[in-house]
Amino acid sequence: MSAPRIVTLDGPAGVGKTTLARRVAEALGLAYLDTGAMFRATALALGPGARELPGAGLRARLEGLAFGLEGRGAASALRLNGRPVGEEIRTEQVGMLASDVATLPEVREFLKAAQRAVGRATALVAEGRDMGTVVFPEAAHKFFLDAAPEIRARRRCEQLRALGAPADLDAVTAQIRARDHQDRTRAVAPLRPAEDALVIDTGPLDIDGVFAAIMAALGRS
Ligand code: DC
Repeated sequence: MSAPRIVTLDGPAGVGKTTLARRVAEALGLAYLDTGAMFRATALALGPGARELPGAGLRARLEGLAFGLEGRGAASALRLNGRPVGEEIRTEQVGMLASDVATLPEVREFLKAAQRAVGRATALVAEGRDMGTVVFPEAAHKFFLDAAPEIRARRRCEQLRALGAPADLDAVTAQIRARDHQDRTRAVAPLRPAEDALVIDTGPLDIDGVFAAIMAALGRS
């Protein structure tokens, strides 16, 4: 069976999309595009004043950002203006800043064009919030992963503790709820499943279980 061209994987913060998208891409021999990383890197590059910029000023700043994707599978690497996008984007503060700039139509239009350009050049597993609904509505294989905020917060705390970092369950649950609210209620491209997406409740499953469900739906089990 030949590999699909575009597989979309959408869902809320902390549901395990990044780990799964990387694994599915590796198994299918496709590139993997983390569009949350594009929003995070854009938020960092624009800085906290992005909201106050007039539309034309914001568009001019965005035109200075050139994204590229190299490699395949687990080795897929996002680059911004020729430099690798690194771990500096992975804090919850940058996640919230990304969620803020993701409400700006200029930012969404700019990144949608950049994401589609990557998709034209390379067969992809694309992970984010609006991959199945807005960016790649024509994709033949769409997945939407979900789980209650408390479950996602508990998993994130376990990850943080495994890294030796402090983790406060109440604080992490509050952060996840705040980001959910902003991502689901924004006017442009809100987080929701595409009508033709397979919705997977990851609550009762571990990563291996979700991976198996996705591969089975792709006819690869
Ligand atoms: O998946 P993530 O946590 O890395 O995403 C960070 C933020 O970026 C998320 O809260 C909302 C925004 N985002 C988006 O609006 N659309 C996407 N396709 C991906 C991310």
